[in-house]
Amino acid sequence: MKCLYMSMLLCLCDMSFSVPLETNLHQFILPNNFLFGTASSSYQFEGAFSSEGKGLSNWDIFSHQTGNILDGSNGDVAVDHYHRYLEDINLMKDLGVNSYRFSLSWARILPRGRFGNVNMAGIEHYNKLIDALLQKGIYPFVSLTHYDIPQELEDRYGAWLSPKVQDDFRYYAEICFKYFGDRVKHWVTFNEPNVVAIRGYRSGIYPPGRCSALFGNCSSGDSEKEPLIAAHNMILSHASAVDTYRTRYQKTQGGSIGIVINAIWYEPFSDSSEDKSAAERAQSFFMNWFLDPIIFGRYPAEMQQILGSQLPTFSRKDLNLMRHGVDFIGINHYTSFYAKDCLYSACQSGGPGVSKPEGYFLRTAVKDGIPIGESTDVDWINIYPPGMENVVTYIKDRYNNTPMFITENGLGQLSNPRLSATDFVFDYKRVEYMNSYLISLASAMRKGADVRGYFAWALLDNFEWISGYAVRFGLHHIDYATLKRTPKLSAIWFKHRISNHSSFP
Ligand code: NOJ
Repeated sequence: MKCLYMSMLLCLCDMSFSVPLETNLHQFILPNNFLFGTASSSYQFEGAFSSEGKGLSNWDIFSHQTGNILDGSNGDVAVDHYHRYLEDINLMKDLGVNSYRFSLSWARILPRGRFGNVNMAGIEHYNKLIDALLQKGIYPFVSLTHYDIPQELEDRYGAWLSPKVQDDFRYYAEICFKYFGDRVKHWVTFNEPNVVAIRGYRSGIYPPGRCSALFGNCSSGDSEKEPLIAAHNMILSHASAVDTYRTRYQKTQGGSIGIVINAIWYEPFSDSSEDKSAAERAQSFFMNWFLDPIIFGRYPAEMQQILGSQLPTFSRKDLNLMRHGVDFIGINHYTSFYAKDCLYSACQSGGPGVSKPEGYFLRTAVKDGIPIGESTDVDWINIYPPGMENVVTYIKDRYNNTPMFITENGLGQLSNPRLSATDFVFDYKRVEYMNSYLISLASAMRKGADVRGYFAWALLDNFEWISGYAVRFGLHHIDYATLKRTPKLSAIWFKHRISNHSSFP
């Protein structure tokens, strides 16, 4: 096996490898200061869940409740990045990346939110991580929160459901700017607040496990409005952090601040104007829900029309806070779906090729039995490379070409017990996927999209939320018995891609 692995490597070095690497080189025109990186997040990677003063997070609690995580696992140890970060930085150095996207654990820095002290051991840890990255020429690209928050905020006042959380977030953000802002030049307030609002407060499959009838079928139905309220408080928390950065830190520290959104491409199910507006509605209820208020100071027109007075409103004071906008938009793009107009066809009752009603719009991966692109091991990922160009162009056009980063892109693979480590290491599918998505991205950039970086999700296999360790997204394989890291073919491909980009025409 080792031999086979070595010959694959040599093959790739010879570039006689069958995955299309060389043929499309001419399509990549990337600026010199383009960031190429790998991504991670605190709960999915760090482990050390109660070490050195860390408080419990919402995910620590949620993952320990029976039935929440598919394989019964949790992130107590995860991939032990907390202790092995130096080894992991060496892996990054070997890939040749110039940036690393990671998140800070709020509960590690403020174990009890505003209601307790700063945990200096947490600050020290992140100082060491940041310094070690910079020593290797790798820029930190840092999210303040990536799903995990101190459980104390949940217990005290229901976290995102209360406006009180805005002060907590501002307080936390300021601590991070103060301690790390001299070296961190790219800040992200939130990772995928749209996913937190939907999965935490509508379907209830993420903490705090609230389920709302507003957007779909839900038996318990906590409150119709909860996803909207949680989203509203996240938007205002984001604005508070940006306000703090702009008014007190940005001038002296000279960095930038943005937000990361999960961006799905919704392809109209047909050429009908009804399906086209269904696709537009889908974007509004998923992505523009956050980006419109943050950039334009108002919710999308479709949401206003459909939700009316159920939609929270921004006060004059809120709008003043929100006036700063963002320096960049981070795009996590993996998949595409068809969108079909529910009012116009039989989709409410599940017509042909229709699988999943979503309230005011319908999204489905299937058209007349044919999935958009190619379906994969992971039920929500369809391989549809044009989705990358389309979604980037959509964001460029709608938000006046605000600078963008692809903050996540990658392919998950089911941890089938019948597969060996070697099977996982030869991840051709992932190479094909990422290569084709990069080509599509380059096409959007050639047409003028201001994209400044691309981060592969993920550096290592890791804890994939409700799927536990059953889905692998890493460029490096993890043996969960020993936590040994092994580069996959995709790591070697990525290294090759990065080292060639400066020679692109
Ligand atoms: C986006 C999330 O930010 C990340 O945490 C997750 O692991 C990937 N999607 C893959 O599902």
